[in-house]
Amino acid sequence: MIDYLQGTQRTHMCGTIGAQQIGESVTVMGFVAKYRNLGNLMFLDLRDVSGVVQIALDDTCDRALLDKAQTIRNEYVLAVSGVVRSRGGNVNVTMATGAIEIAAQQIKILSEADVTPFVVTEDVKASENLRLTYRYLDLRRNYLQSKLVMRDKITRVARNYLADLGFLEIETPFFGKSTPEGARDYLVPSRVHHGSFYALPQSPQLYKQLLMIAGMDRYYQVAKCFRDEDLRANRQPEFTQIDLEMSYVEQDEQVMEIAEGLIRAVFRACLDMEIDEKIRRIPYAEAMRRWGSDKPDTRFGMELCDLTQIVRGSGFVVFDNAIAAGGSVRAINAKGLLSKMTRKDVDACGEFVKSYGAKGLGFAMLREDGITSPILKNLDEQRKQAVLQALDAQVGDVLFFVADANKVVFDALGALRCHLADKYALYDKSKYDFLWVVDFPLLEYDAEEGRYVAVHHPFTSPKVEDIPLLDTDPLAVRANAYDFVINGQEAGGGSIRIHDVKMQEKMFGLLGMSEEEIRSRFGFFVDAFRYGVPPHGGLAFGLDRLVMTVTGTDNIKDVIAFPKVQNASCLMTGAPAPVELKQLGELAIACVDRED
Ligand code: AMO
Ligand code: AMP
Repeated sequence: MIDYLQGTQRTHMCGTIGAQQIGESVTVMGFVAKYRNLGNLMFLDLRDVSGVVQIALDDTCDRALLDKAQTIRNEYVLAVSGVVRSRGGNVNVTMATGAIEIAAQQIKILSEADVTPFVVTEDVKASENLRLTYRYLDLRRNYLQSKLVMRDKITRVARNYLADLGFLEIETPFFGKSTPEGARDYLVPSRVHHGSFYALPQSPQLYKQLLMIAGMDRYYQVAKCFRDEDLRANRQPEFTQIDLEMSYVEQDEQVMEIAEGLIRAVFRACLDMEIDEKIRRIPYAEAMRRWGSDKPDTRFGMELCDLTQIVRGSGFVVFDNAIAAGGSVRAINAKGLLSKMTRKDVDACGEFVKSYGAKGLGFAMLREDGITSPILKNLDEQRKQAVLQALDAQVGDVLFFVADANKVVFDALGALRCHLADKYALYDKSKYDFLWVVDFPLLEYDAEEGRYVAVHHPFTSPKVEDIPLLDTDPLAVRANAYDFVINGQEAGGGSIRIHDVKMQEKMFGLLGMSEEEIRSRFGFFVDAFRYGVPPHGGLAFGLDRLVMTVTGTDNIKDVIAFPKVQNASCLMTGAPAPVELKQLGELAIACVDRED
């Protein structure tokens, strides 16, 4: 039998009741997290979003109430009225409300519950897939609820911070034209225009720039973005940006200052933490050289060491070939790790770097009784000593070498140092490492496509002093772009935009876009540039990643209410799913079978 509230009103949230309510009559509502039936005594833990409180029944309760309580099972939804009393000597120190309990006087069973597919407890044992299939049950756990609570807080702090600085929250369309962030688009077919598609925004980039051209001066949005790209631990196909854009700025510092203020406000409000220090600006070239990454984690050492000059001409073909092909030979020193790493662990590192394109991983294990190294034995004594010296190598260290194209060397060693630091706990995980990476190159060469591509996006401006290089050495041109990095993760990024129509056309030209392509993709945008454009710039933080950082999780699914899994499907709803032929017919769409 289900009860109705019939005017019963909640007086308190479960987790907020404490000693100050002792003697008070209260009504709480929530899910049954646990019940213990000790015959003449019965205890229920009632859970709501604020926490858990214990409900007690004993033989002083009336018979009807006791009989009713006997029928209660886990996850039933109850309204419980009673009097708060002290637990006396039986305080449960593991519970925030452990000093008190509610002596039940009335229980309404608002909903019954079948046995759940897994037990909803904090130390849940069920597989992630089962939990994602019943996400609404998993979300009953404080572990996930607390992250969504933090997400709400961060969003609110960001909104208040930006509103105080005169930023207006303006929504931009989901149904638009393909945007230029470089991932694949999610497309939505048009019923009215057969064969035409809207593209869901990869970011509000074009719209926010048009809002500057529209004179809105300062814009922000908590913006849903859609990118059809390979998922990783910190990527989802739909995710959220705290996106902003401002007019009358020309220096990257002007946007960075606002963005930094936002981060400071978030950490202050959410973690009661003052970020006192000036946040470092690390030029891209230095980040690559020292950490092999444009989002370096600098909480630990193991910096890359360039050995190219030392080993040049050594006669060791692995090194010679890499150098002759314009690549380099670099290494890291895993200081003191010899005692923790077996030969098998070292070999596993060789496998690890393969996924970063490295053909091999050289190593040297510096044992008390000599050096084990298939690499160093190929070098003459002088070069070998110079290598050891450059790496500050001592007994007890393990050295790792990669010889390859620079990109492969950086990717492989950059990832390996993070992998080793994680695996061997080489740093304090509770510390935060904030930095900016600046002076990105404007362009890079895409060998597959045989043309330059924009490192950030095609609307990013070159540094004014580098503009002459656009004609002579485009790859040397630095962009007015900046990424905000927290603990080795790109938390946000942005740039000062091109606001000169001539420069924008030049940029499109460098990217190898034909006149027709520019017109068909960005005609409306280029046209807008003819009618007055304030200098402008902006940035977007990945909200999901900020929440991850603040709540200390490295799984993006933890901070999204209803996330997708690796293959971009939703285990709970079964999306994406086939649709009725009738629906496809209206859209004039027919499906064909494809092998892949
Ligand atoms: P960018 O592409 O660098 O820049 O994106 C900005 C931030 O969004 C987050 N992010 C993601 N988070 C989760 N899942 C994803 N798939 C994902 N992709 C990106 C990252 C990233 O730093 N329009 C520009 C910003 C600008 O120039 O103003 C842009 O979108 O934290
Ligand atoms: P080999 O002469 O092919 O037996 O290689 C000698 C050592 O060099 C082995 O330990 C390989 O793992 C290592 N090695 C092979 N290719 C590379 C590379 N590109 N960079 C660094 N070390 C490599």
